[in-house]
Amino acid sequence: MFNNRLCTRRQAIRLGVTAVSGLGLAIGAKKIYSRQEIQSSDYQQKRTAQDFAVDSQTPLKIRAASKGLIYGAAGNYPALSSDANFKSRFVQECGILVPENELKWYALRPTESSFDFSKGDWLAKFARDNGMLFRGHNLVWNQFMPEWFWKTVNKQNAEKYLTEHITTVAKHYAGQVHSWDVVNEVIDPKHGKPYGLANSPWLDFLGPEYIELAFRATAESDPNALLVFNEAGLKYDTSEHEARRTSVLKLLEHLKSKGTPIHAFGTESHILAHETPFNAKKLRTFLSDLASLGLKILITELDVIDQKLPADIKVRDIAVASHYHDYLSVVLEEKAVMAVLTWGLSDRYTWISQFSPRSDEAPVRPLPFDSDLQPKLAWNALAKAFDNAPKR
Ligand code: G3I
Repeated sequence: MFNNRLCTRRQAIRLGVTAVSGLGLAIGAKKIYSRQEIQSSDYQQKRTAQDFAVDSQTPLKIRAASKGLIYGAAGNYPALSSDANFKSRFVQECGILVPENELKWYALRPTESSFDFSKGDWLAKFARDNGMLFRGHNLVWNQFMPEWFWKTVNKQNAEKYLTEHITTVAKHYAGQVHSWDVVNEVIDPKHGKPYGLANSPWLDFLGPEYIELAFRATAESDPNALLVFNEAGLKYDTSEHEARRTSVLKLLEHLKSKGTPIHAFGTESHILAHETPFNAKKLRTFLSDLASLGLKILITELDVIDQKLPADIKVRDIAVASHYHDYLSVVLEEKAVMAVLTWGLSDRYTWISQFSPRSDEAPVRPLPFDSDLQPKLAWNALAKAFDNAPKR
């Protein structure tokens, strides 16, 4: 959802100066919340911790599996290879592992002529050794590409580089991968391109057909993997998200009409806790429309960004749990939903610390387990959602 260079500059700004929020100024470490912000946040809902009480600590993967669902999380090599306590919590709770970064172009491709599978292989073995499924993320993205890519790939050789990458990587992991995010975040109607596609070097060099090409190359390389179209910005009742939902459905209909081997849709679920335009009916309809195309659905990259919530941990944890509860209660009604994946398992390791830090500099609390690896109300909310979900 950002490009590498902008993100680096944005990170530098965040690191250098206290963020000035449109909703309030950061004065020293204390953030003054505007009335509008406090009233708009779910944390004001009259929920209490008791609302998320569960009868046991049965792990999430077991609760999910009892309803025919898969639960797991993103994990990364630095954390899983060095933090024994985190590793055992991950094995206890997760039925599937998706490498956070290790299968992206910048991680796999140190140069235009070489591949480095070492960290991806370590994670695939970790999953296998611990009875977990393993999913690939991602074969095609237009963000965070390695530096050599911008100097090397052009209109003449783009198809060669795209096909070679997909074929080499998908064949390397053939038989080990439950599902691949074949394409990731390829939609942005604001860019005015065909099918609402986002600006991308692949679109510039190959045209809209690059998406069909990617899915066909993956299917030929790993016929057993579930091939997923992973997209963000689809959950809210805003004109932007409505336009994105419309573009996604039109593009998928077009691709499916051509026999493109797309098996599932991943709806990225980074929930902004201070946003409230969540319309259950519209979201439910969108998921039903996806299912009508014969697609399975994965709830991918689920977490709750608490950047603009009050500092009080009790208040924040209730608000975060409320968002997990409200979102999952809606999406799990759709029986085509087959998996729920949080983008991380513990606050100890979350991208949000780096990319969406709080202006009061308090540690963020977006995930089911806190930084001491203890379950939070967010864990309870996930547990209750699986317990209440219809069986698949
Ligand atoms: O490992 C290096 C470290 O050696 C170096 O000191 C440091 C300097 O900043 O960078 C570290 O690499 C960072 C890497 O995360 C590991 O922390 C990269 O700069 C940073 O760009 C990378 O960010 C990842 C981001 O995707 C871009 O690949 C996040 O961890 C990851 O959570 C995020 O995940 C994306 C999904 O792939 C797609 N959907 C959105 C989601 C959240 O942004």
